[in-house]
Amino acid sequence: MPITVTPLSPALGAEIGNADIAAGIGEEDFRDILHAWHRYALVVLPGQSITEEQQVAFGARFGVLAPWSQFADDHQSKNSTIMLVSNLKENGEYIGSLQEGEIQFHSDGIYTEEPVAATMLYAVKPTTHGGETAYGNMSLAYETLAADIKARIDGLKALHAFTYNSLVTADNEAKMIGHDQVSHYVHPVVRTHPVTGRKALYVNRLMTQAIVGMEEDESRELLAFLYHHLENPDFVYQHKWRKGDTLIWDNRCLVHTRRDFPPNETRIMKRLTIKGDRPF
Ligand code: OGA
Ligand code: MN
Repeated sequence: MPITVTPLSPALGAEIGNADIAAGIGEEDFRDILHAWHRYALVVLPGQSITEEQQVAFGARFGVLAPWSQFADDHQSKNSTIMLVSNLKENGEYIGSLQEGEIQFHSDGIYTEEPVAATMLYAVKPTTHGGETAYGNMSLAYETLAADIKARIDGLKALHAFTYNSLVTADNEAKMIGHDQVSHYVHPVVRTHPVTGRKALYVNRLMTQAIVGMEEDESRELLAFLYHHLENPDFVYQHKWRKGDTLIWDNRCLVHTRRDFPPNETRIMKRLTIKGDRPF
């Protein structure tokens, strides 16, 4: 049976039916998956049961795999493109990355020169409560801005920094960090998708530090306005994870956030990323 494509929300996302990664996905079906991915920015392949090798081989059909990136305080193997996203502990120590709780809206790798184009998460063990991942469509967010705001932000650049470890504070005070200590990079506030040509907002609450060359108060105000706008539920699809769900999303036109979940539940996801180009 050929694959099916069922949209998941008005904002973004589609579920792919009749696709079994472990059994193998043919050329024609994969072309349709890729087409759906470009159209909906997130595709969900439910009910998968895959090894790391099968995940890697499937990921490589979307582009060149990015090297595994070591986060500060995890202890997993460095020899793979697979990252363990989990709160699992061995001998009282975390063995994975992004271990606990909420992660505010962000775009993976925005603090690097060539941010990853895509991220794939395979749900080995989702939580029974919380831990949903919500995605925001940044093309819609850009397109729905008033003309005067578009004119104001076109051509602006923003500084982004690696702030996973600072996690959540209501007013982002945790961002008062020394930039020489963490990865950081400057990118356009509005980027153009290299495949679809659509423009998208490219700032986010977790990682964006400031608009370059703008007075601090004005920068803070403009960013607060943009965050409020882009986090509008009308642009968001929230995914409730089921075991075996395999999601691949496009970081070039989406932001994502992880909801809080109970620390006494074990959550295990396997992640890989696809290389991207410098945003323009
Ligand atoms: C990530 C991420 C969200 C999640 O892997 O980049 O943001 O649901 N994960 O764990
Ligand atoms: Mn992320």
